[in-house]
Amino acid sequence: MSTIRDVAKVAGVSVATVSRVLNNKGYVNEDTRKKVEAAIHSLNYKPNSVARSLFKKKSKMIGLIVPDITNPFFPQLARAVEDVTNHSGYTLVLCNSDEDIIKEQEYIEVLNQKYVDGFIIVTSTLKAEHIKDLKVPIVALDRPINLDTPTVSVNNYEGSRLATKFLCDTGCQKIAHVRGPYNVLNADERCRGYLDEVQDLDWFRPELVVNGNFNINKTKEIAKELLTLHPDIDGIFAGNDLMAVGVIKAAEELGIKIPEQLSIIGFDGITLCETTSPELTTIAQPIYNIGSKAVQILVDLIENRPLEQNNYTFSVELIERQSTKPR
Ligand code: RIB
Repeated sequence: MSTIRDVAKVAGVSVATVSRVLNNKGYVNEDTRKKVEAAIHSLNYKPNSVARSLFKKKSKMIGLIVPDITNPFFPQLARAVEDVTNHSGYTLVLCNSDEDIIKEQEYIEVLNQKYVDGFIIVTSTLKAEHIKDLKVPIVALDRPINLDTPTVSVNNYEGSRLATKFLCDTGCQKIAHVRGPYNVLNADERCRGYLDEVQDLDWFRPELVVNGNFNINKTKEIAKELLTLHPDIDGIFAGNDLMAVGVIKAAEELGIKIPEQLSIIGFDGITLCETTSPELTTIAQPIYNIGSKAVQILVDLIENRPLEQNNYTFSVELIERQSTKPR
């Protein structure tokens, strides 16, 4: 494998001149540049990317930090982020934070040392003070960090009102909500939408809201308790699709028929919803589009192009399948 010294030797110039040509920095006479380019070509010289990163303090890499790739929402999101990252000439580095702020900060630190050009982060723990000294741009995806950080998310509140209203309109008389974790803003927003839709109805009781923590197994257990305590519940809005699957499993174990006795609706629109039995009705986020928009914004920031807007809130849509009664 040829080195920068070989290129310099073949071109008959100094290593510093080759470096100026490679980095397009400083004055190089046109004939000299041509000689260097010809030497690079004839030797099939590939600059060492580590050395280039060290020199330029840029790596053409983007860091994506997500809570947990085993939740099927995140591989779908990561796929979009990776496609657009590659298409823009960058490479993606993926990290799982497990919603642990120490891990998030360590990943940011390590990737910074490798000169990543920017970050896309899905977090509910990082706050403005944790990113204020970052020298590269950052985009918050799915969950906002603060008002100053460019953010791409969906209208969680409207989506949850849509879900709850759909259950009411299809004849449900007592609707419960399995919410996501308390420290996650989109879980709060989805819960707020549910409450605004039902809290003035005569059947509403605060104990109809339980926390499934965005987790399938925890939801299965909590839904079994809920449905045993309140056998007249005939509709459940789950704050994400995984929890909706947990509710389906709970209903199956209790011998409750879906949708005849219990309608279930989720949130996210992951492909898993099409494979459950019954197939899951859901509020679908445009997962690919939000991932792709986050990269476009980040690349604009990295390449010093002005942003058209700082925050993007995408609409969600109801996808009706078999887990709810038909309209
Ligand atoms: O399923 C994972 C959840 O966490 C999704 O609803 C997504 O919006 C994220 O915040």
